[in-house]
Parts: sequence; C-alpha cells; structure tokens
Amino acid sequence: MHARRALSCTLVAMLAAGCGTGPDAGVAGGGSAGKPVVGVILPDDEASSRWVEQDSPKLAQALRFAGVEPLIEQADNDEARFAAIADDMIARRVDVLMTAPLSQAGGVAVEAKAKAAGIPVVNYDRISLGGHADYYVSFDNLDVGELQAEGLLECLGDRPHARIVELQGSPTDHNATLFADGQRRTLGPLYDKGALTLVQSHAVDGWDVEEARAVFARIFDADGGRVDGVVAANDGLAGAVIDVLKTAGVPAGQVPVTGQDATLDGLRAILRGEQCMTVYKPIRDEAEAAARLAAAIAKGDASGADDLATGNTRDVVSGRDVKSVLLSADLVTREDVRQVAVSENAIKAADLCAGDVAAACAEVGILVG
Ligand code: BGC
Repeated sequence: MHARRALSCTLVAMLAAGCGTGPDAGVAGGGSAGKPVVGVILPDDEASSRWVEQDSPKLAQALRFAGVEPLIEQADNDEARFAAIADDMIARRVDVLMTAPLSQAGGVAVEAKAKAAGIPVVNYDRISLGGHADYYVSFDNLDVGELQAEGLLECLGDRPHARIVELQGSPTDHNATLFADGQRRTLGPLYDKGALTLVQSHAVDGWDVEEARAVFARIFDADGGRVDGVVAANDGLAGAVIDVLKTAGVPAGQVPVTGQDATLDGLRAILRGEQCMTVYKPIRDEAEAAARLAAAIAKGDASGADDLATGNTRDVVSGRDVKSVLLSADLVTREDVRQVAVSENAIKAADLCAGDVAAACAEVGILVG
C-alpha cells in the first residue's frame, strides 16, 4: 500500500450488473412498473475507458438498486449529440437528468432547458460553471492534481532542474483546470525557484489521445529529446506520451509519466515500468453516491437528497453554492496495483496480467486463477 494514504476499502453491496437502456427503449411517462427514470449523459467512450467500462454499468446497477430506472447514453465527445440526447431525455420527461458535460457552455444550455421543463439536474463528475445543477457529485479534483505532482516528484527523485512537460486535459472541462491547479500547488514553487524547468504546458482539446500524441511528439522533438518528466492528466494522455517515448527509443521509466483513472492500460503500463503512477478514483462509490442522490430527488425526497450532500462547491461563475458529494482519490504506484486489482476488485486480474505483464504481476503478488 502506498505510504501516503490507504486506499479506501468501502464494502459495497454489489448486485448483478445491468445495462443502461437507450433512449429508444420507450420510457416516456415513467419507467417500467411506473418507476421514476433517471437520464444520464456521459461524455464519450474514448478519452478515458472509465465512462463506458466503469461509470455506465456501475451507474445502471446503483440506480436500479436505488429503485429507479436508468437511461444512460454517451455523447461521443460531440457537443451536438450531447444536446440532442438531452433534448430527447427532456422530451421524454425523465424525472432527473444527470450530466457529465463536454463543456461549460454545452452543460449550461442543457441545464437551462431542463430547468425550464421542471427537471432537476445532477452534475456527475464534471460541474458546469454558471449552470443550474441542483447537486454535484465528484472527487476532490484539486487533490487529484496534487497526487499527480507528488507522484511525479517521487518518480523523478533527485534530478536538479528536471525538464517537465505538462499535457493537461480539455480546456472546456473544469476538472482539467482543477487537476492543473492542484498540480501547480506543488510544482509551481519548484518551477519558480528553478528546481524544475517547465518546458511547456499544453491543454489537449477534448482529452483527445491522437492530438496528445502529435503535440507531445512536437514538444519532445523541439526540446531535442531532453524532457525529464511528463505530467499527463490521465491514463489516456499518458499512453500517448509513452508511445512517443518508445518510438524515440527512450528506455521504459527513464522519463516518468503520470496518469489518472487506474485504467487497465494505465495499470499495465505501471507494471511494465513505463508509467510512474496513476490516481485511483473509486467510481463505484461515485456512481452509488450519484444514484442515491438522484433516486431521492426522483422520489420527491428533497430533505433526503440534501442529507446525502457532504458539502458545497462554489460555482465561481454564478456565485452559487452547489450542494455536493466530493469523494477522495488515491495515489497508485507499482506497489499499490495489487490493492486496486485485488482488494478493490476494480480490475480483473486475468485482464491485468495477460501477456507480457504476467511476470510483473507475479512480482507484485497478483495471482491469476
Ligand atoms: C474525468 C477524468 C477523465 C477525463 C477524460 C475528467 O473530467 O474526471 O476521470 O479521465 O475527464 O475523460
């Protein structure tokens, strides 16, 4: 287990996973057996494997467990599709709309329509600043950024004036700003006093992995390949950086690369020694918190919903305080992979340890069987 913090080990009732229903499933006027319907719009299925592999099934399961009918769609990283799904869900009069918006503007527009139709909104994972969401469920995203900075420093060790490149997430995702702000709390003073050198910080549109690959290759070449460490805001961006480093013939691990999401690819890269760390965010807990909240709202239990909120998030654009549930995340290095896979059961050992990673898995004590 990592020295800084123990991974959270909540025991959660796990029911058999169900699948989200599409908007064509005909749920207008209440779900099957008259259950309230919660519409969920997730951002995409590419920028991080989490949305489709983790959030979608876990939300479906948790919403059903909470006694409501899930209606889950993802927007393919396409603003027009995000708006169209929302229009459809509003027209079908879902009881609650849960959104992880692609951009502030897109999220706010949808929330205004939902509000006009009298449909309450929960922001899931990403907040729409200046919007109308009634609740917000996410992680402490500043802390996620601090964990990334901390992980980078640990992996860098003592490299005076180390040259750092930052690949940040989408400029339209407020989480990406929070991750960057969190990193800067730790890295900023080191850049200022010259202990580290910031070569370049680039925000990758839509968290797009192809763009990340091209951008990092350009920065790496322009810097004459002298980069010593990379802050990559999630495992997808980290994978792009690792590809470029491999192509350039840089030995695995020589240039520490950070990540986030504890995806299958990210954890495998850590086991291979190619990626320095990731941040594990227990999505099961996020999905459950959001589902409980949405179910309470959908059943008209406003005080029950308020009781679930653990604090407020200041929306700096509207000046509103949005009732929130903010969960904590954990730093994961090679020595913690076993805990994420085995104790947290976040990833199947057989998938994690397949192929070239089998020996590394055995080394860190992960048994496949
Ligand atoms: C999420 C991350 C994810 C990223 C790209 C962020 O808003 O918090 O977990 O990696 O979006 O999808």
